[in-house]
Amino acid sequence: MRLDWIVNTPVDSSLTSLMSIAADEAEKSEAIKIPCSISVRLCNDEEIRVYNRDFRHIDRATDVLSFPSVAYPKGKTAGSQEKLLRREYDDDSGTCFLGDLIISVPHIYNQAREFCHSPAREAAYLLVHGICHLMGYDHINEEEKKVMRKMEEKILDSVGLSQDDPACNPDKLLLKLAREAMKKSYSPYSHYPVGAALHSTDGRIFLGCNVENASYGLSNCAERTAVFKAISDGATEFDIIAIASKGSFPWPCGACRQVLNEFSPHIRILVTSEGQDNILESTLDQLLPHGFGPKDLPEQNLERK
Ligand code: THU
Repeated sequence: MRLDWIVNTPVDSSLTSLMSIAADEAEKSEAIKIPCSISVRLCNDEEIRVYNRDFRHIDRATDVLSFPSVAYPKGKTAGSQEKLLRREYDDDSGTCFLGDLIISVPHIYNQAREFCHSPAREAAYLLVHGICHLMGYDHINEEEKKVMRKMEEKILDSVGLSQDDPACNPDKLLLKLAREAMKKSYSPYSHYPVGAALHSTDGRIFLGCNVENASYGLSNCAERTAVFKAISDGATEFDIIAIASKGSFPWPCGACRQVLNEFSPHIRILVTSEGQDNILESTLDQLLPHGFGPKDLPEQNLERK
């Protein structure tokens, strides 16, 4: 599903990547046969309050607003309405536009805290709830609500964010995000795209891809892109990094091992590759035995005493 973003407030890029994954899973779960698109506006509470007031006459901020642009027959949803969707198909965009979503970014973070789950799960849930509305689902009566909840759970399950597991399954989620990050790889020289998803102990996820350069030596690996993004956003301790590529398993190169060692010598490392079913796992201790790091410098030792 194509997402047209309007981002009016700062948001972690891992959340928007996860929302893209969730939107694709929604399209698959509903078995929609035509390419679809939606517009997603991410904003603050003041902005969503204005939309809620102007369009629904409710003068307060909320988490998500959906404005479907397809009028489905009563009780029907997008999956069974191929003919109707074909009529809405736009040749210029090559998609059928299902409607607009507005999501409050502060609500993502606040509700995640309130419900004791990750911002990732909350962001995906709000997007999936909104997309279900755009696909014709509703929750006006109990019967409809049950059907909508079932579809929401089916989609979240396929993303790796099932409700039965409130702590989420970070491994599965990180691997998906690493594959998503790989799509942004700039690797016209090596043709070896790599994506990384780095999980910090404060719960945030940072994505990175390899960024190559005509002056070959200036290329940066996916893992270091993710680490540098994290450090510059104030995260300094990490427990898992997932790395995805095509072809061979993308074990971190020596430089990336050293950079990871600076911050998290015991980090778990998961690697996956397109076309390979299995996932391999190790720890940095194992990949960089007797590593040299901050602990070896006298100033650091003094500081820690
Ligand atoms: N690469 C990474 O991004 N991570 C690794 O751990 C190994 C190598 C990138 C760097 C370069 O853009 C391409 O893969 C081929 O070396």
